[in-house]
Amino acid sequence: MSIASSSRTVAITGTSSGIGRAAVKAFSDNGWRVAATLRNPARETDMQNWPGVSLYPLDVTDTTSIDTALQAILADFGQVNVLVNNAGYGVDGVFEAMTDEIIERQFNTNVFGLMRMTRALIPHMRQRGGGTIIQIASMGGQLAFPLFSIYHGTKWAVEGFTESLQYELNPFNIRLKLIEPGAIKTEFYGAGREMVKPMGTAAYDAFVAKCDKVNQESGAQGESAELVAAAIYKAATDGSRKLRYPVGAPAPLLLRLRKLLPDSLWFGVVKSSYKL
Ligand SMILES: NC(=O)c1ccc[n+]([C@@H]2O[C@H](COP(=O)([O-])OP(=O)(O)OC[C@H]3O[C@@H](n4cnc5c(N)ncnc54)[C@H](OP(=O)(O)O)[C@@H]3O)[C@@H](O)[C@H]2O)c1
Repeated sequence: MSIASSSRTVAITGTSSGIGRAAVKAFSDNGWRVAATLRNPARETDMQNWPGVSLYPLDVTDTTSIDTALQAILADFGQVNVLVNNAGYGVDGVFEAMTDEIIERQFNTNVFGLMRMTRALIPHMRQRGGGTIIQIASMGGQLAFPLFSIYHGTKWAVEGFTESLQYELNPFNIRLKLIEPGAIKTEFYGAGREMVKPMGTAAYDAFVAKCDKVNQESGAQGESAELVAAAIYKAATDGSRKLRYPVGAPAPLLLRLRKLLPDSLWFGVVKSSYKL
């Protein structure tokens, strides 16, 4: 543990599994004080024993829970140097079948939850002369695949929100970071997944079967959460104003291709990988 890092505090949302949990481990291993927030700390049996780690209940869709957790974290640690907005999940399926409730819950978690956390910590970071806000976006925040229209909508929103906000907050020495993972093997493809199919019609069945197969295969071949945690730790500590961190094959390659290719060619690439 370095002396410089020993007093630094990071707050992370959605730490019960996957990328959030791996990020807690990465900061703990590097001697940070870690406020690991999660919806159900009572279910956790292990993480609170990791060096420097304290658990706090926090649901990003609930403003009272955010305020209560941040008050407790600031009372315990006196400061938050880095915020990692990780909490999120993926709705996939057929848009025609999505209810308002499904769409609103997806945006409430992935977008408005992240905005609430960001807004709640800006005054603290501004007053103490700086900080770093790391958004777990996705490579799917700059490109789009079939069956993920709502999820992509949330991640494209996070990209635009964060790119604009950096201009506003950089003068206060608050850095904004976008982590853009490719497919990562986590509960995102398991318990966290919400698949929506229309009732009473078979019109989409063939399309869903074809696309879902490819999506599930890329999840099964995904990279590790630890790889993303290492990118998060780098973004927190590299001292740069760099905004975007694509991580996990094939994110860097696909994001570059998406920029280089005209729409018509890119759409052809996607269609041929899904055999559409
Ligand atoms: N896996 C991928 O391929 C991939 C790729 C790109 C980006 N991402 C992004 O990475 C982030 C983490 O996902 P993951 O892959 O690590 O999946 P995961 O293992 O399912 O983890 C998601 C975490 O978010 C938490 N969460 C969900 N709703 C919440 C809420 N309202 N308040 C607080 N926490 C909430 C979950 O907590 P509970 O246990 O309480 O449900 C869980 O801890 C997400 O933002 C996801 O969009 C994932």
